[in-house]
Formats: sequence, structure tokens, C-alpha cells
Amino acid sequence: MNGTIRADAGPVIDSHTVLYGVIGDPIRHSKSPVMLNRAFRETGVNAVYAAFHVAPDRLAAFAEGARAMGMGGFNVTIPHKTAIMAFLDEIDPTAEAAGAVNTVVRREDKLIGFNTDGPGYVRSLKEEAGVELAGRRIVVLGAGGAARGILHALAQEEPAHIAIVNRTAARAEALAQSLPADVPKAALGPDDLREACADADIVINTTSAGMSPNTDELPLGIDAAWMKPGAVASDIVYNPMRTRFLMEAERAGCRTHGGLGMFIYQGAYAFEYWTGQAAPVAAMRETVIRALGQ
Ligand code: ATR
Repeated sequence: MNGTIRADAGPVIDSHTVLYGVIGDPIRHSKSPVMLNRAFRETGVNAVYAAFHVAPDRLAAFAEGARAMGMGGFNVTIPHKTAIMAFLDEIDPTAEAAGAVNTVVRREDKLIGFNTDGPGYVRSLKEEAGVELAGRRIVVLGAGGAARGILHALAQEEPAHIAIVNRTAARAEALAQSLPADVPKAALGPDDLREACADADIVINTTSAGMSPNTDELPLGIDAAWMKPGAVASDIVYNPMRTRFLMEAERAGCRTHGGLGMFIYQGAYAFEYWTGQAAPVAAMRETVIRALGQ
């Protein structure tokens, strides 16, 4: 299957079809088009979703074009998640806190920015790993853009404590200070990781360590034997779907949670913002898994 729309099969595109898409640089690797087009087909929404390669100096032009064409909305990926904010009319508080926008909704002539990455991650963790977050001790590895969105979403779930552990301790400190004051928290360096893992209920890798082609890498040199048996090891990396961190955690008796769900649920929330309908999550997941296998 190469994605070609045949005349006798597939969606009917007519003069009411609403255009959505994703912008990034690069963009041709993106699985968002197959995932969202499946969601539109599955629910009978008359819309199509395409991938647009937009260079950083064309962001303003893209935003104006999206308004002019009446696009329904669009997703935003690397490297535009922060830069796009300057060209939007409103920023939702979740995106403001995350410092990044990954989903834009057009309402009348206004473009409104949301962030569904952090909430998507949390929904995936709760639904796929069956984890209750209230009262839990959570360790987050990494303090970059991905960590920021996830931490602000975790902070809404009343955890007992969040430790942010990063190679560069100053970044962990700055991120900890940006979280709501009522969340018990600590900013740590790699030397403190072993101790932090010992009483953690959930350890989350938000760094790119372990991502293909560096599949031998362990985030911050973590040893899964430091974690309590039964604790949850979670990784936002989904290429490969089972990272070395997750495989070692499983051998150490931990429960594991992979990164694919975050991608699927960030798309599910985007679909829900755009259409007001519940996203067909199972169909979206099936399509993404098939596309990754190609
Ligand atoms: P993203 O938006 O994907 O989070 P980022 O903002 O560049 O990207 O942040 C990357 C994060 O992963 C940072 O916390 C980075 O650590 P530093 O702040 O010390 O640079 C972390 N990181 C990336 N590669 C890593 C590796 N191999 N080992 C440990 N940490 C790593």
C-alpha cells in the first residue's frame, strides 16, 4: 500500500472536505497522516490530513495560508513547536505551561494553540499501564522539551513526589521551579538516580537515549535493578517499541509502558479538539503499528 487514493476506493473528497495536516522539518517520516486519515474514515468525518514540509522561515506564511484556506487545524512537530506560538491568536494554558504547541485549532479566523503531548502521555500511562498517579512517587529522566510537557501534565494528577533527573542539573532545576508550587519535587543529577529509583513507583524516560540507531544506550546509565519489583518503567521512545531500558526493567520484575501510546493519544486529543467526537483509538493504533512495520 503506498497511500495512493484510488478513484474507486477510499475516501470521497468533495467540495466540503476540510483540510488538516502536520508541519515539520523534516516531515516525510511522520505517521500522523495515516493515523489521522484512518480516524476520519473510521468516524465518517469529511476531512483529509496531509504532511507539509515547512522550513522555519516560512512559518508565518504557513499560518496565514492556513487561515486563508480555512484549514480545520494542524499539528506541529520538530522544530516548530515553540516558534509557531508567535503566529497564533490564542494559546491554551496547557500549551503555555508546556512552552510548546503541537495542535492548532482554527475557530473562525483565529488560530488557537494547544499541547496534547503531555496530556496524551498521561492518558496513555493511565489507560495502557493501568496506573493510578495520585499519591505516587515519580522519577522523570531528562529535562528537555518533552519532559516539560509531560511534567506539567503529571503535576495535575496529585503525585506524592516528582524527581527530575538530568545530565545537566541546572536544566532540571529550572524545570522543577516552573512546576506548580504545591507539587512536592526535587531536581537531581545522575549521581542521585540510584537512590531516587529505590522508592519510585514510576520511572519515565523522556530523553532520546535508546532510540534507534542507539538502541544499546540506557538513559543516564540507569540500572533497572535499582527499581522496586512491580514499579512501572515507562519510555517515550517508540522506535524501537521495546527499548533496552524497558527490556531490562521487565527482567527486573517491573511493569513496562512503551512510547507508542503517547503518540497515539496526542493524536487522539487533537482529533477530539478538531471534531468534538471521541477518537477511534483502537483503529488509530492498528494503523500506526502497521505503518511502523513497513
Ligand atoms: P526533547 O524536546 O526531545 O526533550 P531536548 O529539549 O533537546 O529534546 O532535550 C533532550 C533531553 O534529553 C535533555 O534532558 C538532555 O539532557 P541535557 O539537558 O543534559 O542535554 C537529554 N539527553 C539527550 N540525550 C541524552 C543521553 N544520551 N543521555 C542522557 N540524557 C540525554
